Amino acid sequence: MSEPILEMRGLVKHYPLTRGILFKKQIGAVKAVDGVDLDLLPGETLGIVGESGCGKSTLAKMMVHLERPTAGVLRYKGEDITQLSGRALKRVRRNIQMVFQDPYTSLNPRMTVGDIIGEPFDIHPEVAPKGDRRRRVRELLDVVGLNPEYINRYPHQFSGGQRQRIGIARGLALRPEIIVADEPVSALDVSVQAQVINLLAALQRELGLSLVFISHDLSIVRHISDRVGVMYLGRVVELGRDEEIYDHPTHPYTQALLSAVPVPDPLAREHRERILLGGDVPSPAHIPSGCRFRTRCWKARERCALEVPLLAVPAEFRLAEGPAKHPSACHFAEEKRVVPTAGPSD
Ligand SMILES: Nc1ncnc2c1ncn2[C@@H]1O[C@H](COP(=O)(O)OP(=O)(O)OP(=O)(O)O)[C@@H](O)[C@H]1O
Ligand code: SF4
Ligand SMILES: [Mg+2]
Repeated sequence: MSEPILEMRGLVKHYPLTRGILFKKQIGAVKAVDGVDLDLLPGETLGIVGESGCGKSTLAKMMVHLERPTAGVLRYKGEDITQLSGRALKRVRRNIQMVFQDPYTSLNPRMTVGDIIGEPFDIHPEVAPKGDRRRRVRELLDVVGLNPEYINRYPHQFSGGQRQRIGIARGLALRPEIIVADEPVSALDVSVQAQVINLLAALQRELGLSLVFISHDLSIVRHISDRVGVMYLGRVVELGRDEEIYDHPTHPYTQALLSAVPVPDPLAREHRERILLGGDVPSPAHIPSGCRFRTRCWKARERCALEVPLLAVPAEFRLAEGPAKHPSACHFAEEKRVVPTAGPSD
């Protein structure tokens, strides 16, 4: 297997909770990301799914160095970049770019599309010398399927899907090796979501990008990902190739999420078991002891409150072969096929 292009080891992001105005006293912490180990392999698409508030965006921001981890290590091509600053950080950041969720608020309404897409060249003029910028921007517009003649238009003259294409073009401007796309289609109409996903998939293939694709929508993530990580309350609880996660999940949380995915085939729908989770997601400021999913897990036993389950291939599958053999952070991991067909349709 090739060396990871990005390695996350024990990544943590805690936001302090304080009381008092003049004399701030820390009274706790929001544990947005609480110990994530993940590898991104060169040229793969790694999907990350989980409910709202589970830490997906915080993890994404640490990957692109918009947030500094509270603890843990982030390595890019084997080099620890966690504490980099100044010129060394600038060099690395060029190669790891982000595409944001909301194409309505992430584009400056007073700038032309040409200036928006070309803005990264101000920080990295070596990528496109001044005289060459407009040509480069036109090329980028073409790459994302927009008419290069639109270069002088303003964001409000574009639809949501087109705006997200502009956001993607800006993400590609510096020819990065890694793109982290945080809910890139959630703000778009369902009718244009597939177009933007197909564009990202095509770019990933043609440019050989490593892509992190984040979404709360399991069907969308399956469509584009080679591997998928399922997050719950700041941690990855299950990780595997798409068929391992979707057709052979072993973690109760993944099974519950999958049981709620809409199934288009009525026959399959009828035979599908719905798993309804009790209670709300606990606050990331008060994470349960042991297994953080235990307050909602129908299989929870005493051991679950005492021992933190690690993300590893569970003992019962270690000697076996087959798709159930993949990392799952559960003391009582069991294979359960939730969706009876091959999976959610495209
Ligand atoms: N700057 C911050 N200060 C304090 N708490 C924060 C901050 N940013 C995020 N959080 C909290 O951290 C937790 C994780 O947030 P995050 O935005 O990473 O979740 P998410 O999985 O991206 O959710 P969504 O699906 O809604 O985008 C949430 O409880 C959030 O309120
Ligand atoms: S460790 Fe226990 S509480 Fe956690 S997911 Fe497994 S069975 Fe449920
Ligand atoms: Mg988010």
